[in-house]
Amino acid sequence: AVERTLAIIKPDAVKMGVSGKIIQRIEDEGFKIVGMKKIWMSKEVAKGFYYVHKEKPFFEALTDFMSSGPAIVMVLEKENAIKDWRKLMGATNPADAEEGTLRKEFGRNIDNNAVHGSDAPETAAFEIGYFFSQIELV
Ligand code: CMP
Repeated sequence: AVERTLAIIKPDAVKMGVSGKIIQRIEDEGFKIVGMKKIWMSKEVAKGFYYVHKEKPFFEALTDFMSSGPAIVMVLEKENAIKDWRKLMGATNPADAEEGTLRKEFGRNIDNNAVHGSDAPETAAFEIGYFFSQIELV
């Protein structure tokens, strides 16, 4: 089915100046970008976005990092967008990511891993709604 997923180009990748390369790759792989904006998350916004991880030991570091600079948030649309975007990103830890994936190419470690993607239809719905309203999706 045609799905939508939330993608983020994280602050490390934006800072490195590779957001253009990542966006090109997204388009080359057949995703339609139906929403896109650059935002600088506050700590509170980052905590709300990642609330499912609030009990995890990496929650503080993760939300500090995500609020450390501008990020690009996008809604991607495609047949099987959720699974295919996760495949294009590669494993969460860049050290485990396969050749040809974005995290292999642009990630440095498990915190600075360049990109984010929703992991299931329910999380995609929450994550898209967290950053976008209906009129911003075109
Ligand atoms: P992301 O897909 O954005 O979702 C949560 C993030 O937490 C993850 O990418 C990683 O960057 C970060 N993280 C840090 N440590 C871990 C860990 N041990 N397991 C999973 N995610 C982690």
